[in-house]
Amino acid sequence: AAPTRYEAESSPATCAGAIESNHAGYSGSGFCNADNAVGSAAQFTVTASAAGSATIAVRYANGGTGNRPADVLVNGAVVYPGAAFDPTGAWTTWSSKTLTVPVTSGANTIRLSPTTADGLANVDYLEI
Ligand code: GCU
Ligand code: CA
Repeated sequence: AAPTRYEAESSPATCAGAIESNHAGYSGSGFCNADNAVGSAAQFTVTASAAGSATIAVRYANGGTGNRPADVLVNGAVVYPGAAFDPTGAWTTWSSKTLTVPVTSGANTIRLSPTTADGLANVDYLEI
């Protein structure tokens, strides 16, 4: 089936920071610029039609010079510790990071939580 897109700026997603729209190229009406702090977050609540493994794509921009690693948590459990969100070259250059995650049937939370004081890359959306 075609993936479902969940925008970071729209409920049911939450952003521990600011919803911004000052860097072009995002989908929807903006993106999540989470606070530049360990433990800030962008979180998505997604619906899976069946339990099992699901492919997610996180669209992000990292105009900084270094990786912006983040723990990826599904339903509160760390699935990928310190997943890399490498520089994209500019805050207006958006890239998708694909990961495989375990999901339950129905609602699942997927949380990106930065592990360094640089915070998250800017997050545009998550598709599953
Ligand atoms: C700049 C940029 C933000 C980004 C921030 C950061 O301020 O405009 O979009 O989130 O850098 O380094 O985290
Ligand atoms: Ca930021």
